[in-house]
Amino acid sequence: MAETHSIISVGPRKVCVIGWPVDHSRSPMIHNTWLKRHGLEGEYTKLPVEPAELADTLRFLPNLGFRGANVTVPHKEAAFEALAPFVDPPAERLQAVNTIYRDPDTGEIRGTNTDGIGFWTHLKKSVPDFSGKTAVVIGAGGAARAIVDVLETEGRMKVRLVNRSMARAASLVADIEAKAMVYDWRQMPKALEGADLVVNTTSLGMKGQADLDIDLSPLPASAVVYDIVYVPLETPLLRQARDRGLATVDGLGMLLWQAAPGFARWFGVEVTEDDVAAARSLIEDDLKKEQG
Ligand code: ATR
Repeated sequence: MAETHSIISVGPRKVCVIGWPVDHSRSPMIHNTWLKRHGLEGEYTKLPVEPAELADTLRFLPNLGFRGANVTVPHKEAAFEALAPFVDPPAERLQAVNTIYRDPDTGEIRGTNTDGIGFWTHLKKSVPDFSGKTAVVIGAGGAARAIVDVLETEGRMKVRLVNRSMARAASLVADIEAKAMVYDWRQMPKALEGADLVVNTTSLGMKGQADLDIDLSPLPASAVVYDIVYVPLETPLLRQARDRGLATVDGLGMLLWQAAPGFARWFGVEVTEDDVAAARSLIEDDLKKEQG
């Protein structure tokens, strides 16, 4: 009996990524690589869930045998609604959840958001002496929310937010209670002047999309250019930055480092830089295959 009890209380080491659609997700590749590298039993799978089924799926996650989950597009906001008030501060600020875990002390199912910290960790690993004060964030979608938030809270940076739709940029600032200054797209040169960091959070530059056509010349020589697009790994924006001799940061590391805190919570193991490098090389091979 004692043995049966311990099996039930430990629970199956199953985790999933919930999305609609979820086919494209590379999270299983990341987490299954890390499970294997650490010799851990467990499985990370894809769970397609349509929007109408999300709340019930989250409620019954433990009954379905899952000890945790990632939540991706289009469910991050609805997952927040379903889990609040059992959410951590970043999820509370962003009103969006991307990681679900069980609190070991209370047994509660909780939601958090690791997108911002994934972005920030990758920046600090790529440019270790980064100490910039002023950032330009281009775009005002879901990714921009997490990035503006982490730049202001963790990075203590002043943010200039540039977006095609000023109304959307203004809503971002109001919703997450950011201090960011909003700039019109035509004010891009002024926004870039003297900036230490520029981040593209739009889909421009992604394979099949138009390029993000901006002139980086107002930037100082010490500026860092970060593109969260990772297909292709070197976007036209990053190529322009490299040609100008600026430091560049690509988008794949953000995906990898946002996964690390979830893995630690679910499986009790901190991910190392070697783990991240191993998963990164698998995804790079996969991207090369995909692009022929
Ligand atoms: P995500 O949630 O993944 O961050 P999203 O919500 O689709 O993505 O947001 C896309 C961002 O790319 C928005 O900031 C959008 O600008 P608008 O808010 O003005 O729509 C920006 N974007 C997309 N296509 C664009 C284009 N051709 N020119 C300028 N910005 C563009």
